Amino acid sequence: TYVVIDNCIACKYTDCVEVCPVDCFYEGENMLVIHPDECIDCGVCEPECPADAIRPDTEPDMDDWVEFNRKYSEKWPVIITKKDPLPDAESRDGEAGKREKYFS
Ligand code: SF4
Ligand code: F3S
Repeated sequence: TYVVIDNCIACKYTDCVEVCPVDCFYEGENMLVIHPDECIDCGVCEPECPADAIRPDTEPDMDDWVEFNRKYSEKWPVIITKKDPLPDAESRDGEAGKREKYFS
């Protein structure tokens, strides 16, 4: 599976949702997640993210992000259409500690 990681938080560009063939992105207030059981591992979303926030779970230390994506994809609504990014997307791209700030 692919997963969304912390740099999506407070950016939420949503370019990713337009390319997913199985519509497995889910939208929270501040970020999106991927449903790990619905993702077919096609990889087409990864290069579409301007914030480089999509990763394959084959990278090191991704188990925690898979669980995070699973948990919130079961709570949040599906998103299939691109929308405007969050207002501070550009300035907050790359900011440290976003997960701690929003999800602890
Ligand atoms: Fe969708 Fe493919 Fe990205 Fe999985 S890897 S979330 S199926 S676009
Ligand atoms: Fe987030 Fe990147 Fe999609 S910032 S909404 S994962 S395009």
